[in-house]
Amino acid sequence: MLVSAKEMLQKAKAGHYAVGQFNINNLEWTKAILEVAQEKKSPVILGVSEGAGKYMGGYTTVVGMVNGLINELNITVPVALHLDHGSYDACYKCIKAGFSSVMFDGSHLPFDENLAKTTELVNVTNQLGLSLEAEVGSIGGEEDGVIGQGECADPMECKTIADLGVSMLAAGIGNIHGKYPENWAGLSFETLDAIQAQTGDMPLVLHGGTGIPADQVKKAINLGVAKVNVNTECQLAFAAEVRKYIEAGKDLEGKGFDPRKLLAPGTAGIKATVIEKMELFGSIGKAE
Ligand code: 13P
Repeated sequence: MLVSAKEMLQKAKAGHYAVGQFNINNLEWTKAILEVAQEKKSPVILGVSEGAGKYMGGYTTVVGMVNGLINELNITVPVALHLDHGSYDACYKCIKAGFSSVMFDGSHLPFDENLAKTTELVNVTNQLGLSLEAEVGSIGGEEDGVIGQGECADPMECKTIADLGVSMLAAGIGNIHGKYPENWAGLSFETLDAIQAQTGDMPLVLHGGTGIPADQVKKAINLGVAKVNVNTECQLAFAAEVRKYIEAGKDLEGKGFDPRKLLAPGTAGIKATVIEKMELFGSIGKAE
């Protein structure tokens, strides 16, 4: 059964570790992440962007697939199904479809509008027992071939949004989605420290988990991050393994073209990445 991310993140914050949000793209991704979480006894959050939701055939298809796998694979560790960077409309669609958690990303809106819409969604999700992630200070990435350095959130704005009673808060601390540029300045621990001082027990979320050096991730967890999002790194691992298989000509041997064989190395690549991240975040064994 899907659960809200609230309790698992409060436990993580109190225990000084983080739960991984791993974004899913298809059946192979979902199965790989769930199997690793169960094997390693780790709570887990499955992230679904609006684009990935559309790709997989819509939110109800995603809910059906995830619930089916939890049931058929006897997954007993806590699993949250979470909308990643959702618009206001997408939040309602996912709530209706059966997601157990949503992120409303109003970071690009004027602050007052972000505040008003987040307030409304706090009430709705609380009534339904779902978790809600809000965002302050947008988390950049590549735009028109230019990779930004990543914005830093205003700690007082973070406090205002946290005080609404959201379950977890994403705040820009110089992090970006996708690969980091060579000249990236690193995470701003000064900003994180100031946000943590203002928001107390609120589980903080670190987006753009791909490519942040391990020591910086650990330091961020020590300073109050309780959820780390990873997407690109699983995609890179999947692509590299499938490339190796094809370049070795294995798809041309026997029934090597069968998708169950062709995609198996990619799936193993995702599993290895997820295990590595769970070890780094400290979530292994926390669902026992
Ligand atoms: P990466 O793709 O950089 O790992 O970021 C994932 C993320 O933050 C999803 O919200």
